[in-house]
Amino acid sequence: AKITFHHPGGGIDVLDIEPGTSIMRAAVTNGVQGIVGECGGQAMCGTCHVYVREQYLEAVPPVGEDEDEMLDCTTAGRLDGSRLGCQLVAGNGWETLEVDVPGSQT
Ligand code: FES
Repeated sequence: AKITFHHPGGGIDVLDIEPGTSIMRAAVTNGVQGIVGECGGQAMCGTCHVYVREQYLEAVPPVGEDEDEMLDCTTAGRLDGSRLGCQLVAGNGWETLEVDVPGSQT
């Protein structure tokens, strides 16, 4: 699957990721700025917060219960496209995804 991270300054990172890998894990492994993943993917830290671009919102699975609670506590404000990157797993409904990285995670 292909994931594009758009950074606040206008830069982008594009990664190819294996099915079963979350975009948080892929970002951390590849040193993508702005994705922290402090809790290791447990939907408990909110530091993997991203904004899924509108045209991809239909493809991604619905927000989970733990994810929903966590998204109310993220540093950057919650918007329609807000998701936890650790809960967006390649092969889970989408093949291509573009997200905006918030200006701050902590
Ligand atoms: Fe902690 Fe996603 S890595 S909530």
